[in-house]
Amino acid sequence: MKTDEQIEQDKRLAERMKLVKHKIVVMSGKGGVGKSTLSVNIARALAEKGYKVGLMDTDIHGPNVAKMLGMEDELLYQNDDGIEAPVAGENLKVVSLAMAGNDVDSPIVWRGPLKMGFIKQLLADVNWGELDFLVVDSPPGTGDEPLSVCQLIPEIDGSVIVTTPQDVAVLDSRKSINFSKQLNVPVLGVVENMSGFVCPDCGATHYLFGNGGGEKAAAELEVPFLGRVPIDPKMMEAQDKGMDVFKTHPESEAVKVLGSMVDAIVEKIDIA
Ligand SMILES: Nc1ncnc2c1ncn2[C@@H]1O[C@H](COP(=O)(O)OP(=O)(O)OP(=O)(O)O)[C@@H](O)[C@H]1O
Ligand SMILES: [Mg+2]
Repeated sequence: MKTDEQIEQDKRLAERMKLVKHKIVVMSGKGGVGKSTLSVNIARALAEKGYKVGLMDTDIHGPNVAKMLGMEDELLYQNDDGIEAPVAGENLKVVSLAMAGNDVDSPIVWRGPLKMGFIKQLLADVNWGELDFLVVDSPPGTGDEPLSVCQLIPEIDGSVIVTTPQDVAVLDSRKSINFSKQLNVPVLGVVENMSGFVCPDCGATHYLFGNGGGEKAAAELEVPFLGRVPIDPKMMEAQDKGMDVFKTHPESEAVKVLGSMVDAIVEKIDIA
């Protein structure tokens, strides 16, 4: 039986989410493959195109989104209309546990129901306002956080599944594809990140983690393939400093590919 408070929260969640036109969840089977990188840059690129965007970091144990956006010092605050989300530029609202004022070096021990409660609170109580897109970054795997997101957010447009090219990552990405399908979240596509490294000295492409695994998994499981993002140390460095790679490295192949992926995602989602 739900308490009155829970019923009220469900109502608030439904009302807030009604104002959000499109919802995208970024997931991966394996850790460290580039979900947060993709989430941050998808959100940035959409905001740059003039869409109103919200970016929600559901990674409780390693909330990196704030740092990647140079927003580690921002704090969430409460006002009459719920939790106010800090903004990264004109069209981008960002919420992460890293903004809740906790000591960044202290791990948080949270069990499943608490994680779901936290995600529910972000959806129900953050003043997202009217948004064109809500982009949700997930921790790795098919655990409580992506499960809560897929169960709590109504009418998700789709998932972006990130993998790196080597077999172990691709194997895990197949789980994420099936997880998404089982939860009736359409797979917008698979991204093969860290796919090749262009040597700045000799110009040759070296495939440090192999090549083509993401595309093969997408073909086998009959979901779209969104493309390959090469390894670019400059992009990583810029990101570590919280800088906008679209502005600092527009010439980078990785940044160009990210831009065209966002175009492909927008095209796949029927923008009303
Ligand atoms: N294409 C790339 N070129 C260079 N560096 C990259 C690339 N993609 C991601 N990185 C770097 O790799 C590291 C891991 O990326 P990121 O944090 O986005 O992965 P993640 O999947 O979100 O990890 P986690 O599973 O821990 O949440 C970061 O330092 C990021 O800057
Ligand atoms: Mg991450």
